[in-house]
Amino acid sequence: MNKKVIFGTMLFGTSMCLFLLYMFGQTEMNGSASDQQEVDYVIGVSQPNLHEPWQVLMNEELKNEVAKHENIRVIYTDAAQSTEQQIRDIQTLKEYGIDLLIVSIDNSSDLTPIISDMYKEIPVIVLGRGVTGYNYTLYIGSDYYFIGETAAKAAMNLLGNKGGSIVEIQGITNALQAEERSKGFQETLHKNPAYKISDVLVANWQRDDAEDQLKLLLQHRDNPPDLIYAHNDAMALGAYRAIQSLGLKDIIIIGSDGVNKHNGGLQLVQEKKINTTFITPTGGKEAIQYAIEILGKKEVIPKKIILRNHEIDETNIKNYLTEKEMTASSHEGVRDHSLTLGFAQVGNESEFRAANTQSIVEAAKEAGVELLLKNADNDQEKQIEIIRDFIKQKVDVIAFSPKVEHGWEEVLREAKEAGIPVILSDREINVKDSSLWTSFIGSDFVEEGRRAARWLVNEEASESVHIIELEGTRNSAPAEGRKQGFEEILAENPNFKILKSYQGDFTHALGKKMMKNALEQYGKDIDVVYAHNDDMAIGAIEAIEEFGLKPGSEIRIISIDATKKAFRALSTGKLNFSVECNPLLGPQIMKSAKDLVLGKEIPMKIITAERTFTQEEAGKEIKKRNY
Ligand code: AHR
Repeated sequence: MNKKVIFGTMLFGTSMCLFLLYMFGQTEMNGSASDQQEVDYVIGVSQPNLHEPWQVLMNEELKNEVAKHENIRVIYTDAAQSTEQQIRDIQTLKEYGIDLLIVSIDNSSDLTPIISDMYKEIPVIVLGRGVTGYNYTLYIGSDYYFIGETAAKAAMNLLGNKGGSIVEIQGITNALQAEERSKGFQETLHKNPAYKISDVLVANWQRDDAEDQLKLLLQHRDNPPDLIYAHNDAMALGAYRAIQSLGLKDIIIIGSDGVNKHNGGLQLVQEKKINTTFITPTGGKEAIQYAIEILGKKEVIPKKIILRNHEIDETNIKNYLTEKEMTASSHEGVRDHSLTLGFAQVGNESEFRAANTQSIVEAAKEAGVELLLKNADNDQEKQIEIIRDFIKQKVDVIAFSPKVEHGWEEVLREAKEAGIPVILSDREINVKDSSLWTSFIGSDFVEEGRRAARWLVNEEASESVHIIELEGTRNSAPAEGRKQGFEEILAENPNFKILKSYQGDFTHALGKKMMKNALEQYGKDIDVVYAHNDDMAIGAIEAIEEFGLKPGSEIRIISIDATKKAFRALSTGKLNFSVECNPLLGPQIMKSAKDLVLGKEIPMKIITAERTFTQEEAGKEIKKRNY
């Protein structure tokens, strides 16, 4: 590793600071300009502003973690809420030769292009607030749609069945975190007409803006609203002040962020100025920890780390603060102790599954975890019984790959009552109460479906393209997600038509049988086969050959998983494109299970990084593929 020498001469220091100030607006660097020190890496941190309490907390958490690492130098920039300035900041950090960029943004649509450009050259961590697309190394932050959805549920609880009128105060427009929060909030409320959003204000995350705008609105309204939902606690405090100044009473206020500081959300709840807030971890600590792993070329780096939010109101604030104190002190000196993990595997249906099971077994051995792994042979009832058994055996942690999305409430409630945390491996579930599971580790199946369709749309120019879809297990997260993502892209390209979707269960045998049915029904009218996994695709290839057509040329074939079998079919031209679904989840599951028994908070979701493979790319990679 080539050491970077950060020159310390006063002259250099002062001129650099002047240059940085001119170029960056506000800037700062850890360590003083007067010392001369070799560092391994220089990291650039670009902040949209440093006046919002949440952004200030993020910067503090970044600095606290940086202080633990002698070998890195960090340059912090503050764009003072100007998108143009932030674009300039990022450009200048690039010219300065940083090794990695950590960027938190406000305006996702204007900043996505420069972030995508940076990503072409250096690793980029998007922190706290998202960008559109996937052109970055790692996203660490919250699921803002989920925050909006949870805020809506809190609003409905607080208002009761009688419903009421609601004013929403948004952060800024064309910012992904504001749009997704609003979408989650409004889509959830719209399911019940008793809850009406009467007005939407935009107050730039600012307390005073919110206060002024709300005061103006309420002065011209006969009936005050029953509830205010503000996208952050600063604006919630502004709402409180407006209501106070107009002498209004009994208006419920919901905020977000939950910073534990003066005028932060936790204090506002304690002082009963607002009813509810949502703790939104900044991810500052994790960003530095992952930056060092990325720069250290650690192999498996996830694509997204979704941090869990905690709903705080007068009923749980005391417990939360005490628990926080206790956990903070209790971690010290906790010795790593043996743990027993109960893993209920879904079945043996595919190459992916075999690699997934092997990854879990090997990682448990490596981590010294006692693993009880049972297989449910693709039978949900059997999988539920296996989990019940683990509860009886009082394992420390339960993990499972759910066969389908529904039907898990009862057994997960039993695990929760037994105090056993549950990790969802590879597939998500659909339950109202997200506290029934602790963490999900796996893929973004919707994005996998989009990637399959994007390739096809870019490849195929014909007038009309007829597609046969071989679906995975009905109501399973991968089948639902891959169908939704594929159809989402097809909807924008009407000349692509799905002739028929067949139900296939992710197995080779059914893939072959369905394709036979499709060929009998549609024969040469079929242009493309979209198989939800490799095994069904390989089965389809055999059926097509037996029918006397050429797979890969007369009928194009797209699959998902990208196992070695798919690589072979790609390199012989019988398969055209494969989207990776990463089965190697063992190491992350063991790390999360260990952190859990140490009482550490783990991310709500860890989404794996995945690629796609054309025939050419598979040719190059096939030797390296070990599953
Ligand atoms: O859940 C992931 C899916 O399950 C894989 O794509 C498929 O091969 C497996 O059956």
